[in-house]
Amino acid sequence: MATILITGANRGIGLEMAKQYVARGDEVIAVCRHTNAALDSLGIEVIDGVDVSSDDSVAGLVRALEGRRIDRLVNNAGILERTSLDHLDFASMERQFRVNSIGPLRVTAALRGNLSAGFMVTGCPRPR
Ligand SMILES: NC(=O)c1ccc[n+]([C@@H]2O[C@H](COP(=O)([O-])OP(=O)(O)OC[C@H]3O[C@@H](n4cnc5c(N)ncnc54)[C@H](OP(=O)(O)O)[C@@H]3O)[C@@H](O)[C@H]2O)c1
Repeated sequence: MATILITGANRGIGLEMAKQYVARGDEVIAVCRHTNAALDSLGIEVIDGVDVSSDDSVAGLVRALEGRRIDRLVNNAGILERTSLDHLDFASMERQFRVNSIGPLRVTAALRGNLSAGFMVTGCPRPR
């Protein structure tokens, strides 16, 4: 049994991964901004109020996980806002960079003290 932390676990791929890891017997720590009935119904540990683009928010996650070992960190939280050369939206691009690129680095760096030897950090893998 591995301990797996998933960001953006309240819906979409993150929620589905949480279900699949739980089904195979792993311990899942579901991290999100806002929990909901679908996530709560899994009966797993949920840490909400975590925005991966916020230093303060991720610091709260670190405090909540003090002393806990994590075997796999799934940096799933992300946004996709379409833009094109005809309609460049630099504010949107910067927002996506903050969440999708810097967010995983912030979370990974903040939790490195929790990561076990041989840990794995991923984006959105299929559970294995
Ligand atoms: N679906 C695809 O085909 C596809 C393809 C390539 C890559 N991806 C990537 O795979 C990941 C999951 O995709 P999905 O389809 O499941 O997306 P989704 O349904 O839109 O879910 C995105 C998740 O990320 C969370 N999130 C967004 N911004 C966040 C932030 N600043 N801090 C914390 N959590 C945040 C959302 O939380 P809230 O509910 O609070 O908004 C939600 O839980 C995303 O990173 C996406 O870009 C998806």
